[in-house]
Amino acid sequence: MFRYIQKSIKPFGLKSVRYSSIISVHRNHELDNPNIPFEFSAENLKRAEEIITKYPPQYKKGACMPLLDLGQRQLGFTSISVMNYVAKMLDMPPMRVYEVATFYTMYNRKPMGKYNLQICTTTPCQLCGSDDIMEAVHKTLGIKPGETTKDGLFTFQEVECLGACVNAPMMGVNDDYFEDLTGDKTVELLKQLQNGKELSELKAGPLSGRESCEPYSGAKVLLGDKPTDIRQFTRSDL
Ligand code: FES
Repeated sequence: MFRYIQKSIKPFGLKSVRYSSIISVHRNHELDNPNIPFEFSAENLKRAEEIITKYPPQYKKGACMPLLDLGQRQLGFTSISVMNYVAKMLDMPPMRVYEVATFYTMYNRKPMGKYNLQICTTTPCQLCGSDDIMEAVHKTLGIKPGETTKDGLFTFQEVECLGACVNAPMMGVNDDYFEDLTGDKTVELLKQLQNGKELSELKAGPLSGRESCEPYSGAKVLLGDKPTDIRQFTRSDL
């Protein structure tokens, strides 16, 4: 982490905004205030009703998280109107929904770019080069963590572990993970999105040639037709 901090004094600076530290305060503004109407589309309403049926009627508030996620996917972020709508649908006090939405960093409380870039800088990714990924995003897009490009295409977030440590370093782009990344590969990915390629057209997963999270030297177990005879590795008297 030190290397990143040292490098990040310039150009990122230690004041880069972490979303987890800013989402708990709501201020009305033109894109996010309770007067902006929100309701699920017909398709999402059907999905929401299906989700609610998975919970006993007296515990339907258990559907709070999936419904907030549905609202965020429809609108692009979790606005106060989304939270109020979910609260009403689940007969919950709005404050309870605000608590959920501001606790989990997966709920974005600010309008987001079309592509939400989440770069993990937790220890395994940091040791494998997440500094280079951060720098590549910053230099290519000209934004710091917590910012969105002027064209509304990218939002840049520095995040904690996203659970793909064995393929570190990695970057989440919306629901897809790009793993075994390098600075150059990050730039290449961003350029393709900038040039109009859709995310679905890009190959997600490990970009190093690894199929999954097997060792770089190749798979070592479960090879061949016969299982390994473990006795060749153990004492004969065992
Ligand atoms: S440390 Fe980066 S994904 Fe786990």
